[in-house]
Amino acid sequence: MTHTFPEHFFWGAATSAPQSEGGQYAGGRSASTWDKWFELEPERFNANIGPEVTSDVYNRYREDAKLMSDINLNSYRTSISWNRLLPDGKTLNEEAVAFYRDYFQSLRDEGVEPIMNLFHFDMPWWLMEKGGWESRESIDHFAFYAKTAFEQFGDLITYWTTFNEPIVHVTCGYLGEYHWPKVNSLKRAIQVAHHTNLAHAAAVVEYRKLGLDGQIGNILNLSPVYPRSQSEGDLKAKKDAEELHVKSFLEPTVKGKYSDYLIDLLREHDLLPVVEEGDLELIEKGKVDFLGVNYYQPIRVREVEEHEKTYPVNSLGHFSRHYDWPEKRMNKYRGWEIYPEGIYDIAMMIKDEYGNLPFYISENGMGVAEEERFMNEDGMIEDDYRIEFIHDHLEFVQKAIAEGANCFGYHLWTFVDCWSWLNSYKNRYGFYRMDLETGDRSIKKSGKWIKKVIEEKKLLD
Ligand code: NOJ
Repeated sequence: MTHTFPEHFFWGAATSAPQSEGGQYAGGRSASTWDKWFELEPERFNANIGPEVTSDVYNRYREDAKLMSDINLNSYRTSISWNRLLPDGKTLNEEAVAFYRDYFQSLRDEGVEPIMNLFHFDMPWWLMEKGGWESRESIDHFAFYAKTAFEQFGDLITYWTTFNEPIVHVTCGYLGEYHWPKVNSLKRAIQVAHHTNLAHAAAVVEYRKLGLDGQIGNILNLSPVYPRSQSEGDLKAKKDAEELHVKSFLEPTVKGKYSDYLIDLLREHDLLPVVEEGDLELIEKGKVDFLGVNYYQPIRVREVEEHEKTYPVNSLGHFSRHYDWPEKRMNKYRGWEIYPEGIYDIAMMIKDEYGNLPFYISENGMGVAEEERFMNEDGMIEDDYRIEFIHDHLEFVQKAIAEGANCFGYHLWTFVDCWSWLNSYKNRYGFYRMDLETGDRSIKKSGKWIKKVIEEKKLLD
């Protein structure tokens, strides 16, 4: 069977400023939480590799734009570094403006549409010292940053997004030790989530005020939630997990309000955040034009057993993940579950429950450790597993489009292997391999494959 794709479709790759730019303190940039954390605890990062250089896009963006166009990519999603553009939160860094303008123009010159995000887990350190997203001050600071970015780059960027996977800085920073400030408090996490929703809405308000000729969205990881069984308990676990993990950002972003279910759930457990006068009116103004959807794996949940007393205090983590790779996958690389149908279920949810809002797949991808094992004699990574992964997900994207879903693109995470937070370079994701010593890029088999798919606008079985 041959599966075709729409004539106008964003075929691209995604990354973020903190994971790809490097140029850590070059051109007046100040520190983010990641820079500081690495200085304080380098041993927390895989192989002690921090964010100083990452993929060195700061110096290599022209080369990268060319490599993207070499494989027919027509779009690229990354983010702006808040602490590069406004190192102290107030003063515009002209050197950063010049860098980003040239970077975005270079992409355009190669026929690559830059899709720009504002916040990708990289809180400026000076703001974290004032409480980060726990402090209401951060809302106004973010709105000012967003307005500045829109004013400086609004002529070069048509598609803007405010946050990337906002639930992740909430859960990893306030319910675990994966992001700074690495504390464990559901109460604080929920306050941070509320402030993030307010900051998103405040940025949308700034965008609308400027009357720019473009669109604004938000990037959410809309992992579908599947219950272990249809029992009452398992179905309630599914509903709770979905409301907390997925809809806590999806409902405000698309419908401009929190769901009654979520409010009741939080009230029932005395977890409602502090909501000030005007907050709900602001959230109402945060409705977006489109969504970016990140999808890697579903969330599988079950009822919490009697002895698991903390429920729902840690219910944000109360589900079991089934790492059930089919034998055709490489067992050695067990990890996140691969479930391509999930992408179709998300598309149908947006179609049926969220007014068929336009969306694109802003991230999907496969992280593989020790990928050099698949290097052939010519030095090329033969990543057939990634080809299969993309192929299988694209099949479901295509099926969803055929059934009326409003999906306008697909972006692989990522273009060239990039730095991944505490995991550093442990897992590789790119269409291009990056040599850690030299920073040089070399195409993988998946890069050659996607070039052909894009050329033909169809998947061949
Ligand atoms: C989600 C995040 O947006 C990105 O920062 C991360 O590196 C990838 N997924 C891969 O885990």
